Amino acid sequence: MSKTTRDESATDKKELNQFEQHYFTSYDHYGIHEEMLQDTVRTLSYRNAIMQNKDMFKDKVVLDVGCGTGILSMFAAKHGAKHVIGVDMSSIIEMARKIVDLNGFSDKITLLRGKLEDVVLPFPKVDIIISEWMGYFLLYESMLDTVLYARDKYLVEGGLIFPDKCSIHIAGLEDSEYKSEKLSYWQDVYGFDYTPFVPIVKEEPIVDTVDNNAINTTKCKMIEFDLNTVKLSDLDFKVPFEVEVKRQDWINGVICWFDIVFPAPKGKKPIEFSTGAHAPYTHWKQTVFYLEDDLECEKGDILRGELTCSPNKRNNRDLDVKISYEFEARGVDAKERSRKNENVYLMH
Ligand SMILES: C[S@@+](CC[C@H](N)C(=O)[O-])C[C@H]1O[C@@H](n2cnc3c(N)ncnc32)[C@H](O)[C@@H]1O
Repeated sequence: MSKTTRDESATDKKELNQFEQHYFTSYDHYGIHEEMLQDTVRTLSYRNAIMQNKDMFKDKVVLDVGCGTGILSMFAAKHGAKHVIGVDMSSIIEMARKIVDLNGFSDKITLLRGKLEDVVLPFPKVDIIISEWMGYFLLYESMLDTVLYARDKYLVEGGLIFPDKCSIHIAGLEDSEYKSEKLSYWQDVYGFDYTPFVPIVKEEPIVDTVDNNAINTTKCKMIEFDLNTVKLSDLDFKVPFEVEVKRQDWINGVICWFDIVFPAPKGKKPIEFSTGAHAPYTHWKQTVFYLEDDLECEKGDILRGELTCSPNKRNNRDLDVKISYEFEARGVDAKERSRKNENVYLMH
């Protein structure tokens, strides 16, 4: 159970299931933290949002959910927080202790090792929660669950969450070459038929950077979450989408990305960033779901459908995604080009 002494973990890792152990082990290595720190869109957005709100942080108790190397805790301490509590289950927190000491923040930042759900905080309530919890396709990793747990247990009435708004977007994508390369490879592997791999390959969304020019439809915001009010059950959702084709082309898949917004002082423009192909690079890149059909499209055609997203039953950090779509072609050959289909995906 809960122990919060300096060197012990409140959670016994050996008692976690294999998926959880694997998840937290992945954050033990410095490399993943290096990638996140070097993502300047990500890290500077947090810093700028904290700086922009330094009047709000002044003399406040702040909780950093999943503090990693302690970067967000130090931003908060540097910009006025009375005390910051950083919590992390991974061994990277031992490095955070050294860094916090080295940078002179050990009296302002308390670091606790363990799952946020198991630790005992030195304050019964906190004024502000900061957390960088976002995964690929926003919800992969399910870390938002932990932030909502922290909000409901520790945040004072009217307290702030950084960031507090996020949304998932979708558009149509031309990607014929890569899609056919990825699928046709299995037809002939050193002279052997490897096609049993094809359904598995189709089922897996691809996380990669996409050239914005390959997007050939309008964009659609599918869902928005307000972290001040969102419930755990809202993270298991089915949402409609509709986009309009902008040029004669092929749609081979859909591309998804997310946007993030931080609270702002009254009258100020909030700090925000996008992980879309139109925006500067982030380590989240974009997520591509190839469709069963390659849709031959003309300007004005409509792609509409529904996207369902649920935590996977076996490992709730994975996501089950279903996209059902109806492609409504327009013009003389509308009947031949129109399609209706449904694809399932597993993000793991
Ligand atoms: C995306 S990293 C962010 C690290 C750091 N805040 C930063 O911005 O560089 C998320 C961190 O949260 C930790 N984490 C995830 N779920 C947690 C939980 N339930 N309890 C404690 N730590 C958790 C992970 O170990 C990981 O170090």
